[in-house]
Amino acid sequence: MAVEHTFVMVKPDGVARGLVGEVISRFERKGLVLEKMRLLVVDDDLARRHYAEHVDKAFFADLVEFITGGPVVAMEWSGESAIAVARTLMGPTNPVEAPPGTIRGDFGLVITTNIVHGSDGPESAARELALFFGG
Ligand code: RTP
Ligand code: MG
Repeated sequence: MAVEHTFVMVKPDGVARGLVGEVISRFERKGLVLEKMRLLVVDDDLARRHYAEHVDKAFFADLVEFITGGPVVAMEWSGESAIAVARTLMGPTNPVEAPPGTIRGDFGLVITTNIVHGSDGPESAARELALFFGG
């Protein structure tokens, strides 16, 4: 057993489309445990820190504009291999390539508006949980 904690966020498009319950339900049914949850509007500073790894990418400005464009739901989930399990439930980054049965595959179409974020490893999980929930 390797119980992990991961950071998951329903992005502004997911909140606007009423998919918060859908995302939570899928994580719950899988057996992960909801530890913390917060509805907030991400400001420019938090967006830039959250997505710091992408600062040099061509899509960075669009990414920051999108993620600050409306309320998000930030969550901490725990469970066996929670980081990888969350990414599996979400599906690949590009909804065009995401298979049915995944969140992005079932509800997404365009890469920017891909509904949900999940930490991609233990370091990013720790960093993102600290950013949104403190120490
Ligand atoms: P996320 O961080 O949001 O969970 O997504 P991810 O790990 O699956 O993908 P990542 O490589 O970290 O990219 C972060 C977000 O940037 C947007 N993106 N746009 N236009 C593009 O080519 C492009 N590539 C990435 C996506 O919204 C992605 O979720
Ligand atoms: Mg990422």
